[in-house]
Amino acid sequence: MKLVKLIANLGYGSRKDVGWMFREGRITDAAGEVLYADDRVAHGDIRVDGEALDPPQGLLIALHKPVGHTCSTKDPGRVIYDLLPPRFRLRDPALSPVGRLDRDTSGLLLMTDDGGLLHRIISPKSNLPKVYEATLAQDLRGDEVDVFASGSLMLESEDTPLAPAAMQVLSPRHARLTLTEGRYHQVRRMFAAMGNRVETLQRVSIGGLGLGDAAPGQWRILTGEDRSRLFSSP
Ligand code: URA
Repeated sequence: MKLVKLIANLGYGSRKDVGWMFREGRITDAAGEVLYADDRVAHGDIRVDGEALDPPQGLLIALHKPVGHTCSTKDPGRVIYDLLPPRFRLRDPALSPVGRLDRDTSGLLLMTDDGGLLHRIISPKSNLPKVYEATLAQDLRGDEVDVFASGSLMLESEDTPLAPAAMQVLSPRHARLTLTEGRYHQVRRMFAAMGNRVETLQRVSIGGLGLGDAAPGQWRILTGEDRSRLFSSP
C-alpha cells in the first residue's frame, strides 16, 4: 500500500493532509531521515513527528470502560472513543467494540478493526465465557443459581430460552455471573426476571483475559500472548 494511503487510513488525516505532512518533513524513518511519499519503508520504521506510527490493521485493544460512556460513535454524550487517541476513531477499517456494554455498565471491553477476529470472539462456536459482577437492589432469593443454570429461563420478548449460566453468590446482594451469550441488557434482564434490580454491573473477564489492574478509562493494545489468553479457558 502507498505510504499516503497507509498513514491516512490510520486516521492521521485525509490523503491531502498526509501529503502535506510529507512535504513538511514530518514523516521520517527511524533514523530521522525525511521520507517521501513514494518511498518503500517497513511499517515499524515509520515515524510521524518522531513518534512510531500506530499499529497497522489487526489492532486489538482492551479498554476498562467506565460508567457513563456509550459504545457508540453517534451518541451526543460521552462515548468510548473519547477515551482513545482522536485518530483511532478515524481509522479505516474502523475500530469497533466487540459486543457492547450498556452506558451504566463498566469493565472489560475489547475493540478491534479486524472483522474476522471480532466474529471469532463473539461467535457462539468460540463459547467464550464472559464474567460479570453485579450488585443488587435486594437480597438474592435463593433460587437464582438453579434458574440461571437451567437453560430454560425465557426473557421477556425473546423466543428462545437463555443458555445455562453459572452464578456464584458473593454476598446476599452481590453475585458473579458467567455467560456465554450476549443478549441485549442480558444480566439486568435476568435479575429483573427474578424480581430484583441490578444496581452496579461490571464485566471482569472475557475468556481467559481479565480486567487486571486497569483503572476506569485506561486501555492497552493487546499482544499475541493476550490473544492466546483470551481464547484459553479461564
Ligand atoms: N448485561 C447487561 O445487562 N448489560 C451489559 O452491558 C452487559 C451484559
